[in-house]
Amino acid sequence: MTDQEFHQLAAYIKSNYGNHLKEEKRAMVEGRLHGLLLKNGISSFSEYFKHVMSDNTGEAVAELINKITTNHTFFMREASHFFYFRDKALPELVKRVRNKDLRIWSAGCSTGEEPYTIAFIIDEFFGKEKALWDTRILATDISSRVLEHAAKGVYSDESLKDLPSQWQLSYFKKSDTGSEVVDRIKREVIFRKFNLMDKVFPFKRKFHIIFCRNVMIYFDRETKKELVNKFYDALEHGGYLFIGHSESISRGESPFRYVMPSVYRKE
Ligand SMILES: C[S@@+](CC[C@H](N)C(=O)[O-])C[C@H]1O[C@@H](n2cnc3c(N)ncnc32)[C@H](O)[C@@H]1O
Repeated sequence: MTDQEFHQLAAYIKSNYGNHLKEEKRAMVEGRLHGLLLKNGISSFSEYFKHVMSDNTGEAVAELINKITTNHTFFMREASHFFYFRDKALPELVKRVRNKDLRIWSAGCSTGEEPYTIAFIIDEFFGKEKALWDTRILATDISSRVLEHAAKGVYSDESLKDLPSQWQLSYFKKSDTGSEVVDRIKREVIFRKFNLMDKVFPFKRKFHIIFCRNVMIYFDRETKKELVNKFYDALEHGGYLFIGHSESISRGESPFRYVMPSVYRKE
């Protein structure tokens, strides 16, 4: 991949998907895309880029996104967020939410471990009362590959090891290839393809909680600032934003109030 080819691709990815492909990622990008070039019988990255740009079906760009994004995630990642959500945010929010309509968004959900964990907590928290509530979780990502995996809800037995054994028993059933999330929990999570770079968020109603963890680490400062402010607008007053442990929002970047590391609130 020549300098020019890398810069052309990086500029396209950044302006359309926010992800900042640093120079040190070049070998990784080249490696990941190599198979796509072979598959399409294309011999250079310039030709591949033209192919992506001229494809009106959206398939080529989706394949590119599937290769470029970093989707690493696991159950109970940054578990303190889930404890805060269960012990502080939920008990308090249920008192103020109107019409028993609790709206939670997992933005950049990858293969689904994060939104399913939220669904397990909600199920346990509400118990029998849950039938009276609409607590469905919106879970979005730009990678169609991870969304397919998430919707199937099948995980290796090894990946469940950090989940309480009660959850493993109640929320999973055995499948040929591992453990599958039970249908009643699957129905609680709505997976959709959505690009966080879209100028306007299309949601009719505001959220009470947004999780956007380990997504903005790939964005530059300005892109992150814009997104954080869109999250602010998309939240109800009193709503929470959870970001990744290695991420932070500086003062002056948005009107969010700092609650604790990587947890913010709209007053
Ligand atoms: C590292 S994973 C984080 C998964 C999970 N939130 C966690 O903390 O474990 C980051 C996810 O963000 C998604 N992503 C990156 N850019 C995005 C964008 N512009 N719009 C939506 N999702 C994006 C990637 O596809 C990837 O699945």
